Amino acid sequence: MSTAPSPQLTHDPERRRDLAHVGPVEVYTPALEDSVDFFVRLMGLREVNRDATSVYLHTWDDYQAWTVRLIRRDAAGVGRTYLRAASRQAMQRVATGIESTGHGHGTVSNVPHLGRVYLFTDPDGHEYGLYWDSAWYRADATDRPASKNQAAAYPGRGANLRRLDHVNYRAADMPAVSMFLRDTLGARCTEQVVTDDGSPQAMWFSVGNKSYDLVYTGDRTAGLHHLAFATDTREEILRAADLCLDAGIRIETGPNEHAIQQTFYLYVSEPGGNRIELCNAGARLILAPDWPTVTWTREERARGTM
Ligand SMILES: [Fe+2]
Repeated sequence: MSTAPSPQLTHDPERRRDLAHVGPVEVYTPALEDSVDFFVRLMGLREVNRDATSVYLHTWDDYQAWTVRLIRRDAAGVGRTYLRAASRQAMQRVATGIESTGHGHGTVSNVPHLGRVYLFTDPDGHEYGLYWDSAWYRADATDRPASKNQAAAYPGRGANLRRLDHVNYRAADMPAVSMFLRDTLGARCTEQVVTDDGSPQAMWFSVGNKSYDLVYTGDRTAGLHHLAFATDTREEILRAADLCLDAGIRIETGPNEHAIQQTFYLYVSEPGGNRIELCNAGARLILAPDWPTVTWTREERARGTM
């Protein structure tokens, strides 16, 4: 049997896995009640709390108290993306690293169901919150699951979105952002698209064994590119496209499959104007600790989707 050497590394495998996962996330909408209706009735989320300016929603497989906070604002966009640290000590390590970059903004304790949250921004100004303490979701009599290893009963409603999958940001300063994600947050770039001169045009970062959790797409300005939720099956994405057509929700593209990350997808525009992706990457995980960044050129992308 022949063996091949480990591929050339683009990250340090000695680096601690100090981030556990991405989520929950805040989303701005100028049409709060219409956005709530979209997520609850069509996408299968559950309203779990509300205050004067926002509504908290939960996906059925999220172990945490809430998945998305919709916030009433004049324009669509993304607020804070919360990152759960892998431990209390990991939170301190990451916060110390961020502090040394000058991107830290102190700690707050007023985010519902999260404990102390260390606020920071990436070099493009996108807002993040790092936390460890988190209240777990408590199902009530109306959504108690039969299985004790499941957060809530399967909703059986609309697209039945299972969980938050990833946040895709528009990035104005791709080199600074990619250095920050790799060197300060310890994320791995699992795939990237490069321009003809070799500079990155889009980068997919993973903080655990999911193939990606945070994506940055080069653009003239920063902001939200799209927010993605995972479904159990591809068939639910096909059905969701029909549901959205019937409900007058604009489909931007799909259903189709990206060659990049092999993600089956549907992009729709929710009533507040945010681009929402429904995605399914099957059982694809990145298990290799020495996974090299897969680079796609324009020519390779031109071969199209799969
Ligand atoms: Fe995406």
